[in-house]
Amino acid sequence: MSTLITNIGELVTNAPAGDRGPGGGPGEFGFITAAALVIDGAQIAWTGPAGRAPAADDIVDARGRAVLPGFVDSHAHLVFAGERGAEFAARMAGQPYTAGGIAWTVAATRAASDVTLRAGLRRLADEMLRQGTTTYECKSGYGLTVRDEARSVMLAAEVTPEVTYLGAHVVPPEFENDPAGYLDLVCGPMLDACAANARWIDVFCEEGAFGADEAAVVLAAGRARGLLPRVHANQLGPGPGVRIAVEADAASADHCTHLTSADVDLLASSGTVATLLPGVEFSCRQPYPDARRLLGAGVTVAIATDCNPGSCYTSSMALCVALAVREMGMTTQEAVWSATAGGALALRRTDVGHVGAGARADLLMLDAPSHTYLAYRPGVPLTAAVWREGRLAAARPQVLGH
Ligand code: NIG
Ligand code: FE
Repeated sequence: MSTLITNIGELVTNAPAGDRGPGGGPGEFGFITAAALVIDGAQIAWTGPAGRAPAADDIVDARGRAVLPGFVDSHAHLVFAGERGAEFAARMAGQPYTAGGIAWTVAATRAASDVTLRAGLRRLADEMLRQGTTTYECKSGYGLTVRDEARSVMLAAEVTPEVTYLGAHVVPPEFENDPAGYLDLVCGPMLDACAANARWIDVFCEEGAFGADEAAVVLAAGRARGLLPRVHANQLGPGPGVRIAVEADAASADHCTHLTSADVDLLASSGTVATLLPGVEFSCRQPYPDARRLLGAGVTVAIATDCNPGSCYTSSMALCVALAVREMGMTTQEAVWSATAGGALALRRTDVGHVGAGARADLLMLDAPSHTYLAYRPGVPLTAAVWREGRLAAARPQVLGH
């Protein structure tokens, strides 16, 4: 079964070849105006000018709307119970964000049934898909016992292949006086119980969480079990997180809110993506990192939500794109690239984050003529339709004319 989507006002491809707009080199935003594409099964079979489109079994008239690769959200914590709205309100009244709130969610998560956790996870996963996020990562990290981390990764694996084991989120209260004992658990029995359902291992390398040596030990233990490293780095202050990430050849160093020039140089000379999480700065009223400084140094930048009940409870990649443009100095093209192709690199994926023959047919059609509207009309629901693996996953009534 093939579908031709035609009369696309702007087709964002991120593709290194073909009929592109300015700046469409490898690793850069690329687009085709007055475009069409053909979906065949789960993949894109063809892209090009609408006038040269081949025939297909079915036709969708985009009526001048923009079509983008589905968002790739490479950082989310979706397995948890409860919420922390009061903590957010207290922050907005002047309290600082601290990692201490994590313990509250850990207690609620441990007390919740699998049914409750699964329902919350699926609600967020559906919410993301309806907004055009077709690939997302999901971390454990609110269980922090062997049983609760194991069920967290098991539940996450039900909704995404990009599962991250984050037993090293914080030291839980029962190990307050024995952090070394907790590290042994994380790198031993807990890892044993989680490795089969995870692709990634993550550590919160930060004052009040895990130090440089501990983080390196966690990542090495995960790697020995076949997991690939990624790191929560430099969120609350300057520190060793970026260095640890680069030394471990992590796919991504995430947050990067407080970077020294040495951190920027390290990232620029590495294969580690800097994943910026502008929703966290928004929700924690923190200064935004300067994306221009990173891009100017040649660092690969991704944008993700960090959706979690504490530091940032948004699942909206569109909001993050708007914030990255307005507050972090990115152009609209750079921000959309980082939220799609950048996220794919942060997950070391080549099949998503771009639109071209052979790519996965993950598409977001906007109720707008260009990608610019994501930042130009912030807060407005612009999703007209979403395809994931070639199947229509969400559509606004009447948008597709059937
Ligand atoms: O990525 N930094 C650590 N973990 C999460 C916050 C978790 C929470 O506050 O519940 C983050 O921001
Ligand atoms: Fe996070």
